[in-house]
Amino acid sequence: MYDGDIATTLVTEEAIRAKTAELAKQVGADYADRCATSDLLLVGVLKGAVMFMTDFARALPLPVQLEFMAVSSYGSSTSSSGVVRILKDLDRDIADRHVLIVEDIIDSGLTLSWLLKNLETRRPASLEVCTLLRKPDAVKVDVPVKYVGFDIPNEFVVGYGLDYAERYRDLPFIGTLDPSVYR
Ligand code: XMP
Ligand code: MG
Repeated sequence: MYDGDIATTLVTEEAIRAKTAELAKQVGADYADRCATSDLLLVGVLKGAVMFMTDFARALPLPVQLEFMAVSSYGSSTSSSGVVRILKDLDRDIADRHVLIVEDIIDSGLTLSWLLKNLETRRPASLEVCTLLRKPDAVKVDVPVKYVGFDIPNEFVVGYGLDYAERYRDLPFIGTLDPSVYR
């Protein structure tokens, strides 16, 4: 599949599975008391977070409800500007709910920073972030990310939900693209 397009494997399928289980255990322990009477609400950011969201939800030891948001950040396809537009909003009110945003990757952190501010105005009981991947630049922006799977180098990555021109989302691992793909 995608022969010759993937230059390197950055995170294997096995490593993703192990990390997802580890994060789920941690989140399960952190939310057990808080969510005894009301289910944890996972908010996934489409489309990139879909694979991680579904695997993470199934690995969690507590009941969760799933919501999705689709946002588009103005800018080029490989960098974001921080100007965000909601393409699909949540279906439900999140007031007084314990909300955990599930992200595929935090790069500049601008998208997430906007999203946190937006969701905070809806008065959730709590709001935290769980991301599978984080790039070095994200550390420069002051966004509180409680759960991080892997810190990765500043390279464009695809697979496990992440795309280049809508392709490669279906790869079961995270890899870097061969430069020939960009040409
Ligand atoms: P910011 O910079 O706002 O960007 O943190 C977050 C969004 O940008 C996309 N993104 C990537 N998508 N491979 C991708 O397929 C990458 O290496 C990459 N880096 C950033 C992604 O949509 C993410 O939610
Ligand atoms: Mg994308």
